[in-house]
Amino acid sequence: MTPSRVMVVAGARPNFMKVAPIIRALDRRSDRLQATLVHTGQHYDAAMSDVFFGDLGLREPEENLGVGSGTHAWQTAQVMMRFEPVLERVRPAWVLVVGDVNSTAACALVSVKLNVRVGHVEAGLRSFDRSMPEEINRLVTDAVSDLLFTPSADADENLRHEGVAEEKIKLVGNVMIDTLLVSLERARARAVHEAIGVPRQGFVYVTLHRPGNVDDGSGLSAIVEALRRIASRVPVVFPVHPRTRQRLQQFGFLDVLETTPSVRLLEPIGYHDSLSLTDAAAVVLTDSGGLQEESAFLRVPCLTLRPNTERPITISHGSNRLTTVERMEDDVRAALARSRDRENTPVPPLWDGHAAERIVETLLDVTDHRE
Ligand code: UD1
Repeated sequence: MTPSRVMVVAGARPNFMKVAPIIRALDRRSDRLQATLVHTGQHYDAAMSDVFFGDLGLREPEENLGVGSGTHAWQTAQVMMRFEPVLERVRPAWVLVVGDVNSTAACALVSVKLNVRVGHVEAGLRSFDRSMPEEINRLVTDAVSDLLFTPSADADENLRHEGVAEEKIKLVGNVMIDTLLVSLERARARAVHEAIGVPRQGFVYVTLHRPGNVDDGSGLSAIVEALRRIASRVPVVFPVHPRTRQRLQQFGFLDVLETTPSVRLLEPIGYHDSLSLTDAAAVVLTDSGGLQEESAFLRVPCLTLRPNTERPITISHGSNRLTTVERMEDDVRAALARSRDRENTPVPPLWDGHAAERIVETLLDVTDHRE
């Protein structure tokens, strides 16, 4: 029997950690399933893409669409136009898309229109905030997908409320945690905080890149001032996303931060380095989805600088709290006093390192029933 081909799509930084365990699990069942990795090229800098392939041991993608940056419409359209002929040529049995970036929604749409079955990994998450481009991508992708692989029970509930058929919803757990568990030892060995010269559990690890936080000058100014006040109390380590660097430069805040004692600005960092900093931080202050999950799992107090989160389980089952620019300084102070309570905070069910295996088992099951 020839193996069925499964095309796995990655486009932007947070996707790479999600596809790595899926590719590995597919490769282990190469008797039945054959994986093809597609990189859309939404993220393309060495620091935003190549370093993740190295850290995660991901093989060279079989297909690279080389899309690059642009407006939402331009980028989404480019991914669609470049993905369509690849899909026509390869004609896989399944396309798997992950997360909520523009590449996710674009490839899901192309696939369903060519009658290729789509599985969405990390389905069902909702912030209920349609001003976020990711929320639109989640809604579109879930609406057209045949299988919805969810990370947690709240996601199943969201999908049921939207009237999604029960047989499409597959609670498999969190693939980000699959990657975290196989990477933690190597990440810890990197001890990035030592290289930077900040004490273990004696610094705040900051990442900010959401348009809602960084694209507006007065909002960004308030964030910069709050970070400076926090840094007067505890060192701040802040790897700067390209979007954020552009905005800091444009509004004239880059120098201010660079010259603030106790603020360490870094270039974007790889997966192991980020995990190393998360593990060693006293507090994580972020607007990233992945960091909310990683810090929740590691029980590191996390403050999410957003009015909402599509990952409420990181609050109910972890150490995450929402914060605002006005409250940020006080919240950091309170979080510094919070201890890491590994024993008493439960890890969400199925965040156990085997989510990708469950995805592959489901695909095999579905394929069996069709044959
Ligand atoms: C994208 C995702 C977001 C994810 C984030 C992680 C969407 C809608 N957004 O946002 O969900 O959390 O990635 O990083 O898909 N740039 C570079 N080098 C790169 C990539 C981008 O310099 O390799 C610069 C470009 O100037 C670009 C800007 O960063 O215009 C923003 O990149 P883009 O992919 O459009 O959105 P992100 O903000 O990265």
